[in-house]
Amino acid sequence: MKRRNFIKFGSVLMAGSLYAKKTNKNIISFKEQFSEALVVPPLASYEVKNGTKVFNLNVQKGKTSFLNGALTDTYGVNGSFLGPTIRVQNRDKILIHVKNSLDEITTLHWHGLKVKGSSDGGPHSVIKPNTSWSADIDINQRACVAWYHPHAMHKTGEQVFKGIAGLFIIDDEDSKKLALPKEYGIDDIPLVIQDRRFDNTGQFMYKQGMHDTMMGVTGNVHLINGISDPFVEVEPKAIRFRILNGANARIYNLTFEDGHEFYQVAGDSSFLPKPVKLKNFILAPGERAEIIVDFSKLAGKTLFWGDAINKRALMKVIVKNTKPSPSTLPKTLLHVNDYDNAKAVNKRVFELNMRMGWLGINGKQMAMDRIDEVVKKDTFEIWEIKNPSPRPHPFHVHGTAFKIISRNGQKPLSNELGLKDTVLVYGRETVQIMVVFNHEASKNRPYMYHCHILEHEDAGMMGQFVVEA
Ligand code: C2O
Ligand code: CU
Ligand code: CU
Repeated sequence: MKRRNFIKFGSVLMAGSLYAKKTNKNIISFKEQFSEALVVPPLASYEVKNGTKVFNLNVQKGKTSFLNGALTDTYGVNGSFLGPTIRVQNRDKILIHVKNSLDEITTLHWHGLKVKGSSDGGPHSVIKPNTSWSADIDINQRACVAWYHPHAMHKTGEQVFKGIAGLFIIDDEDSKKLALPKEYGIDDIPLVIQDRRFDNTGQFMYKQGMHDTMMGVTGNVHLINGISDPFVEVEPKAIRFRILNGANARIYNLTFEDGHEFYQVAGDSSFLPKPVKLKNFILAPGERAEIIVDFSKLAGKTLFWGDAINKRALMKVIVKNTKPSPSTLPKTLLHVNDYDNAKAVNKRVFELNMRMGWLGINGKQMAMDRIDEVVKKDTFEIWEIKNPSPRPHPFHVHGTAFKIISRNGQKPLSNELGLKDTVLVYGRETVQIMVVFNHEASKNRPYMYHCHILEHEDAGMMGQFVVEA
């Protein structure tokens, strides 16, 4: 079968039969592109007990249909693939019980949440099969789209690939006040973008050797919210997409095929100062972006959303032929004033090292029993991330929301002026960020910093730090 490639980039055919295999009963093939409707992850239910919102997550095995003629063995949270969206308000007290129903250990980490080390769900918070772990969190941060995924030592990449991931949305006074679309699943649509590779029996084909470790595992099947090449129907009005790059290793350059413009309003950890008009933007693994697309002049039209790097459509957007509702965007969104360079008391340098068959940071590979940095709580620091390698690495830090200060001494891009927790450091680039940690993390439950190409993280491009009062 022919896959849709962006016409403006020329037509590159994909071998649809590459993984087609005749077995005794069936033929495995790609599903027809844009034949399945986008599914929006359900909101996680909770109970309120003594003023605390209590969530129950079950990490489980399942089978999921991505291809014709095969069911793929997958992992999911409260379902067979991916998990529900946890949605909370700033200042909420929450408790999340995580049950591990797998046959192997796992952990669940809240990527983008500012939580104390003991609730962070990093590699030390192992949940054995058939046991549970609980995280208590006092939400205290700006409105954002965060997410959750496993973080067990050497297992993160494979467990995320199998399907353990979900969104974690935080609302606050600003997000409620701002005139932006906010009806979940209607005009406020989450998109978890991932790619997968399959073997000829229709099972996920994870890491096969050193090449996959060095390059990261990518695939030729692209999923949005677990559906390959979905279509979505929207009203002719402004639509908000909350996008997570949940891929293990693929960097996307997201765009509309016809160059239709849109506005980015938020990055990883906060709104931007003001909406930024774009035709495309880079989103690396672990990063999030919220965009507003005005479809009010496109009633009855069809658009293709996709990736300009891979030159491939990922989703078909059908604008309904109904009465348009034009709207205007707020001129300003959020100014974060508390990150002032002059406040920084300390500077640390992190050099990302990549040699043949070896990945590390500052010359060391991640070791569970070695603490690499000791940081003081509530103290601003400059972290300088140097990438002497030719390949880009998305650098992520636990327990904080940071501000990007500079890229190779130059100002950051206009769509990265809000708070972040993951920054793509391009080959031969040096990026400075300003971090601050408002919770403690002890040596028994330290925080991590690492490359968010999960194969790099699992291979040792990660370090641990504690935060002390
Ligand atoms: Cu997305 Cu250390 O995590
Ligand atoms: Cu994280
Ligand atoms: Cu990397």
